[in-house]
Amino acid sequence: MTETVLLVGGGGREHAIARAVADDCALYACASNRNPGIRRLADGFETIDETDAEAVADYATAVGADLAVIGPESALAAGVADALDEIGVYAFGPQAEEARLETDKAYQREFMDEADIPGCPDYAVFDDIEAACDYIDGYDGDLAVKPVGLTGGKGVKVIGDQVTSEEAKAYLRDSDYDRVVLEERLVGEEFTVQAFVANGDLRTTPAVQDHKRAYEGDEGPNTGGMGSYSDTGLSLPFMAEGDYEAAVDVLDAVVEALPDYKGVLYGQFMLTDEGPKVVEFNARFGDPEAMNTLPVLETPFIDVLTAARDGGPLPELAFTGEATVCKYAVPEGYPTDPDAGAKVAVDEESVGDALLYYASVDERDDGIYTTTSRSFAVVGRGDSVAAAEAQAEDALAAAGDRVRIRHDIGKADLVERRIEHMAELRE
Ligand code: AMP
Ligand code: GLY
Repeated sequence: MTETVLLVGGGGREHAIARAVADDCALYACASNRNPGIRRLADGFETIDETDAEAVADYATAVGADLAVIGPESALAAGVADALDEIGVYAFGPQAEEARLETDKAYQREFMDEADIPGCPDYAVFDDIEAACDYIDGYDGDLAVKPVGLTGGKGVKVIGDQVTSEEAKAYLRDSDYDRVVLEERLVGEEFTVQAFVANGDLRTTPAVQDHKRAYEGDEGPNTGGMGSYSDTGLSLPFMAEGDYEAAVDVLDAVVEALPDYKGVLYGQFMLTDEGPKVVEFNARFGDPEAMNTLPVLETPFIDVLTAARDGGPLPELAFTGEATVCKYAVPEGYPTDPDAGAKVAVDEESVGDALLYYASVDERDDGIYTTTSRSFAVVGRGDSVAAAEAQAEDALAAAGDRVRIRHDIGKADLVERRIEHMAELRE
């Protein structure tokens, strides 16, 4: 039977989800932006604010959806999964209560404490900004300052890395945040492990390293993610034996504590000299990490979705064994002062063997144009990170000079620096 799948969301991540299922189902999609890549793959596309749970549910009914995949955290926070489940359309994505794992950073840490999830840093929660500032003054060491709500990865400030304590206090006092988490600064290398979760079951995918800083050499402000890589196996070059498994143990413990959780569980880890610690959990695929993961997933993604919906165990996952390198092209000036309106100079043909994923772009009669957020990504695949990187760079050669790319992502120099960093920390 052909399943009818509704995809919610219109970014690069959702373009990757669309490509992973389009051949195996009747695909309908809705998002607030018209993503040209998703529109071409889908049998139907509707412009709907993805946080309007009622409108999404109405569209699911109109297209006769059997199940839905929810891409963005904003939709989960708005209760889109709840609204779809309510009308009998299985949503692969947690309901708002379980999505608090991502949408409320105070809840996330308190949950880890109560459920005894390994890898939780020392933390404190404040409802009073002056009390938080006093805590910063009295703390012996560096802290990460984290507003509790969703900030697109851009709200966290790390003392001793991005800001001084004085700057952190000024940041809090100038903000309108009324609740913040302060937690011990974790030092190491970050990596992500994403798992498919349903019916108390979990299947993990290869580790990915994202690059949050805007500029080469990990300089500049944080972004939603400038690009990411994965290796041929489950682990990454700077990880030691047992690190990947330790991360999986954390995800396992979360699922055990939240048996009704469904969807993607994304663990962001800091690999420290004491092993992986939890930076955060997300309740959905990463963007860009979905673009590393789904192209190398050999198991049809639709089989994961239907097994989840039908209440059974999830299928064992098989991967192609290729390394991947994903690089985003962003508007010049992103993220602080983005210059929108450049014509996108690459298309699905011109990228050759690489894959092209559209994100925040605007399709007009005469072409596709950048907006103020990340524009498009390319993914190279190969039998090594270096080969995948070279394929991604070939595809980006024609990208033009009104978009900016972190060319260092996946290059030998940067990968080697990560390995040396971990070796130093572990000495
Ligand atoms: P989050 O929104 O929690 O993912 O935080 C965004 C980024 O801030 C993370 O990817 C890390 O680079 C950094 N960060 C968050 N928490 C910590 C921490 N406790 N120690 C060091 N860096 C952190
Ligand atoms: N790439 C980080 C995120 O999706 O949250």
